[in-house]
Amino acid sequence: MLKVGVVGVGGISAAHIDGWHKIEEAQITAMCDIRPERMEPHPYARHYLSFDEMLEKEPLDVLDICLPTYLHVEFALKALGKGINVLCEKPLSLDAADAKRVYDTAKANGVKFMVAQVLRFWPEYTVVKELYDNGTYGRLLSGSMERLGARPRWSWDGWMTDEKRSGLVPFDLHVHDLDFMVYAFGAPQKTACYRSKRDDQDYLNAVYTFDGFSITSEAAWYAPPMPFAARFRFQFEDAVVVNEGGLKIYEKDGNVIDFANDAGGDTGKINLPKTGAYFEEIRYFTDCVLQDTAPDKVKPEELETVISILKSM
Ligand SMILES: NC(=O)c1ccc[n+]([C@@H]2O[C@H](COP(=O)([O-])OP(=O)(O)OC[C@H]3O[C@@H](n4cnc5c(N)ncnc54)[C@H](O)[C@@H]3O)[C@@H](O)[C@H]2O)c1
Repeated sequence: MLKVGVVGVGGISAAHIDGWHKIEEAQITAMCDIRPERMEPHPYARHYLSFDEMLEKEPLDVLDICLPTYLHVEFALKALGKGINVLCEKPLSLDAADAKRVYDTAKANGVKFMVAQVLRFWPEYTVVKELYDNGTYGRLLSGSMERLGARPRWSWDGWMTDEKRSGLVPFDLHVHDLDFMVYAFGAPQKTACYRSKRDDQDYLNAVYTFDGFSITSEAAWYAPPMPFAARFRFQFEDAVVVNEGGLKIYEKDGNVIDFANDAGGDTGKINLPKTGAYFEEIRYFTDCVLQDTAPDKVKPEELETVISILKSM
């Protein structure tokens, strides 16, 4: 049974904790947060206010880092140095050079490290990669990806709206879509970005050029408390794949594959897994640890490419 520690029991930790509970070969034995009340709903784990104390006292196999971005690298290096496998929330860092430092430390200590870039495990997005890799609908001609919401007001100590600690919209929000593009299509040949950054809102519009197609992408924290929406549209030669509150494939001959109306997850051509993406990323990392295989679905050079582009915005 893998002993798992979770550090940072804020907003996103709920999805991770839920994922770990579904893994039979793992158990959350310890948690750490500087706010004790965040750990109260989890009496099955031992609670720590100090990360160093948790590392000293707990024989952990895996550490799951759900801390604010600016703490990821420091905490990951400490755990890796003690021979603990580390799964870390996105983005790894605001500095591309950190990818090598972290992966080198993992290698030197014979343990695994992975950044939880969740879109790589998100069913609707994995379908796009599959269609692209297999050429199911011919070549990709264009794409559009959006991630729009309101300026976050919920984060602990307001760290998310502090540029030095979060990197704002590029690193906190747009990182998801850019990371997916780099994973699915490789590094873009050219990037053009327009950004409107103010104290109360942050918006960017980027165009990425790949070999034979381009992808336009918007990301925003708007000032009004608007609902969050993530969408995409990919135009292939023989179909347009749209994800707007549900995945649909409009085929050239008029046929429409509607994944929302497909209770069994089997469309005849493409299966959409019904499990959650956070569970899938945790399942994948657990398997890598148990089977001693590299978690190379997320590669350090891809993280470097993504961070370098985000840094330029
Ligand atoms: N993958 C996703 O979909 C997704 C979504 C939201 C956030 N995130 C990422 O997850 C990370 C956390 O974001 P969040 O929204 O949960 O933030 P949050 O502010 O809700 O939670 C952070 C938690 O860390 C705790 N903390 C702060 N300093 C600490 C320390 N020194 N020791 C122990 N605990 C400490 C805080 O008390 C808080 O509970 C960020 O890197 C963010 O980018 C990912």
